Amino acid sequence: MIKFNNLNQENPYKLFKEKYEKALNKGQKSIEAISISSFNKELNEVDSRYVNLKFISNDEFIFFSNYDSPKASSFNSHNQIAALIYWPSINVQIRMKAKIKKTSKEYNQKYFFERSEEKNVLAISSNQSKPIDSYSQVKENYNRTLVRDDLKKCPEYWGGFSFIPYYFEFWEGHESRINKREVFDKTDGMWKYSFLQP
Ligand SMILES: Cc1cc2nc3c(=O)[nH]c(=O)nc-3n(C[C@H](O)[C@H](O)[C@H](O)COP(=O)(O)O)c2cc1C
Repeated sequence: MIKFNNLNQENPYKLFKEKYEKALNKGQKSIEAISISSFNKELNEVDSRYVNLKFISNDEFIFFSNYDSPKASSFNSHNQIAALIYWPSINVQIRMKAKIKKTSKEYNQKYFFERSEEKNVLAISSNQSKPIDSYSQVKENYNRTLVRDDLKKCPEYWGGFSFIPYYFEFWEGHESRINKREVFDKTDGMWKYSFLQP
């Protein structure tokens, strides 16, 4: 589930929420899954991965991850991302473009504190995306962390990323194949609304 806080009342956001509610009513599984594509300038490489979108606060999309992970290095190297959602229950794709940044230390600490200790264990115990000898080693690290008494303390290497899209495309598939594509493109602080051919 995505939590909406004080949602921006401009149209791309209202339309996003409308589609979200439709998909939710149709029982859409993993509704918060969103693909984030990034470019690492040093490696000259594009990469994508799913994350769970936790909040849309006003116009900011927020997810959480490891600040030492490859994705974090990519965001650091080049702050431009593309985000992608597909909700099969309503046959809707949403494409977004944005600049990404970290959320504040205070925000991360507050969120981490509110999460269950069970969830926090993995965030603390895992050097995300670093190689490890075996899966049993991963479990061992997890179990060793489980007994610690600081499971509510957010580590420096974990926190949120936030992005404010300046481009949305809502693609709606139709059985007739006459698919609908609506674009909201923000230039000079104003949303420009247009349609694209399918
Ligand atoms: C549906 C789904 C949701 C995920 N959510 C998160 C998430 O919220 N945060 C996260 O760090 N990784 C999440 N992952 C794992 C990432 O896809 C990825 O494996 C991990 O973040 C390492 O990515 P990186 O090596 O590009 O940094 C999720 C994976 C899936 C399939």
